[in-house]
Amino acid sequence: MTTIDRGIPLSRREGWQRLQAHKTAIGALDLSFLFADDPFRAEHLNATGAGLFFDYSKNRITTGTLELLLDLARECHLPARIEQMFGGEKINVTENRAVLHVALRAPKDEVIRVDGKNVVPEVHAVLERMSRFANRIRDGQWRGQTGKPIRNVVNIGIGGSDLGPVMAYEALRNYTRRDMRFRFVSNIDPTAFFESVRDLDPAETLFIVSSKTFTTLETMTNAHTAREWTRQALGDPAIGRHFVAVSTNEEAVRQFGIDPENMFGFWDWVGGRYSMDSAIGLSTMLAVGSENFHDMLGGFREMDLHFRSTPFEKNLPVIHGLLCVWEGTFMGSATRGVFPYDQYLKRFPAYLQQLTMESNGKHATLDGTRVDYDTGPVFWGEPGTNGQHSFYQLIHQGTRIIPSDLIGFLHPLHPSGSHHDILIANLLAQSEALAFGRTREELEKQGVPPEQIPHRICEGNRPTNVILAERLTPAVLGSLIAFYEHSVFTQGVLWGIDSFDQWGVELGKILAQKILPELTASPDDPLSHDSSTNALIVRYRKARAAGPS
Ligand code: F6P
Repeated sequence: MTTIDRGIPLSRREGWQRLQAHKTAIGALDLSFLFADDPFRAEHLNATGAGLFFDYSKNRITTGTLELLLDLARECHLPARIEQMFGGEKINVTENRAVLHVALRAPKDEVIRVDGKNVVPEVHAVLERMSRFANRIRDGQWRGQTGKPIRNVVNIGIGGSDLGPVMAYEALRNYTRRDMRFRFVSNIDPTAFFESVRDLDPAETLFIVSSKTFTTLETMTNAHTAREWTRQALGDPAIGRHFVAVSTNEEAVRQFGIDPENMFGFWDWVGGRYSMDSAIGLSTMLAVGSENFHDMLGGFREMDLHFRSTPFEKNLPVIHGLLCVWEGTFMGSATRGVFPYDQYLKRFPAYLQQLTMESNGKHATLDGTRVDYDTGPVFWGEPGTNGQHSFYQLIHQGTRIIPSDLIGFLHPLHPSGSHHDILIANLLAQSEALAFGRTREELEKQGVPPEQIPHRICEGNRPTNVILAERLTPAVLGSLIAFYEHSVFTQGVLWGIDSFDQWGVELGKILAQKILPELTASPDDPLSHDSSTNALIVRYRKARAAGPS
């Protein structure tokens, strides 16, 4: 076992100093100049792997920048850290856990040990149980309490137990059973549950309670409401036919009233936001079938192998991760846009928000030192071309630089006239416009009135990555997700942080538990928060006591 390097924050590394000096040296360079200077730039600055083509030529870098970033990655022991992850070492140091989402897509004959035990056979045992269950639901063998087949599947979960499943369902909708309905309840707001089930027949509805811990307040509250909804319609004995669980907590599942026979397990070495290809993907498998689910795992696996074995100079997730560090930490870009030019990927930015921000929104290095540099940027986005008609204005002419990832497919799933050509023309146009802008001279040549010119100049030099794949298949989706997972890992290694814990979400949960009984206490019950929180609680108490007007 190798020792995890906990020692040196990024800013004390030699490579950091070199990159700072390099940044000063190239400060005035812009993309127009870089492209004019090297007509073959696009040919040098791209990489291909696991079904993805990655053009990163429109970044504010020179080949020297990339070399320095690669040196820094080596100085941060990225090669060893990758091996530690794939080898099952406990690299989630603050929780003393291995980080093995890569084991979820490992082939049967691979051996990955955690505490001396090979975990791969268990992974495949669960996958086989999931497949058998999915087949029984999909071919109508598994019947509800009244003998009707299951037509509706409702996943109850939140965070990683929701965002992966809902994203994958939307992304792979083309491959789903169109005679079944899939719903996802996450929010504690009762509207979420109500709207999800209002048109469903309980006798045809299966609930999947998805929660790694099986203690999450929102999920358990929604699960209890779902149980009551089912019980009222079909009686107590129906729970066994209409509820299954996905969790690591067998005892809590049993206590809830779900037979552990109907529980699909996973393990503490799968982080919630890295779990959509574990049993948390049960709704995905029910929707697209076991074969497509396995194709998706194959895509994840291909990217895992690419990440582990491809030289860093041609390694997609490594290069993407390094560019995120370059833009975020060195160039000061606080956010990154993710714009999939594909309607099926409409929930992909939301999924990436958790993956990236819960992983790398950290201010302490592995040894507990407060960082003195910026770590994870805000990730956000919307599908193109929709975003072009709302917020792209700011990306083109705003005062902040927003590096972006534009994702597209060479072939549409639903060819229809010129739709797809228009879609891709827009993707390419945005990348070009953001990089090269529109100059005063061009506008003058076009005869634009002088008073309008300042308003119509686009300064350009806005970085974009373009990520292209053949078609949106289950395998390509798996590859795309693994690409971002490993990019996040790369970034975390450079920043020297633990990308796999999430202590920051704890405080709000504790305070909510404290405030909850205070909301229903008598109006004069004393409060001990700050004056703002106290006053807001009192306002709510009064409104609650008075009822709706
Ligand atoms: O509160 C954050 C979090 O712990 C996420 O990391 C996780 O994905 C989500 O809550 C749901 O947790 P669980 O699957 O245990 O219900």
